[in-house]
Amino acid sequence: MKNPLMPFLTIAVLGIILIVVLSTVGVNQNAEGEGATEAATPEEIFAQNCAMCHGQNLEGASGPNLQQIGSKYSVDEIKGVIQNPPSAAMPPNLVSGEELDVLAEWLGEQK
Ligand code: HEC
Repeated sequence: MKNPLMPFLTIAVLGIILIVVLSTVGVNQNAEGEGATEAATPEEIFAQNCAMCHGQNLEGASGPNLQQIGSKYSVDEIKGVIQNPPSAAMPPNLVSGEELDVLAEWLGEQK
């Protein structure tokens, strides 16, 4: 027995599969895009969180100059300052997680 609706059903099912596949691909591309912003460079992290007080080039402003901060503190000490600043003039935990690691490593190289 041949069902006359079969060709239409086949096309409908293929269409639905295509929609699902395409939207999944779209969602994955979005997720990749977000991943890319997460992997910000230390310069970007600094510009967004620290430069307003420490200057675009670490030259200092309301906060102290950080151009030789790597000679003064180890990477771990720099992390400590970011998590728990020396005074209330600097807000704590502006940066955390992977960004904190990346930023502190980079500041540790400023000598
Ligand atoms: C609202 C202004 C402000 C922001 C934003 C800020 N800081 Fe600070 N920071 C300060 C001030 C003010 C001090 C000095 C505090 C003191 O010594 O009492 C300081 C001190 C420091 C020190 C210690 C300097 C030294 O020579 O002992 C480091 C390191 C530092 N900041 C890093 C950062 C980093 C990294 C960021 C971004 C995540 C940041 N700061 C964001 C104001 C700021």
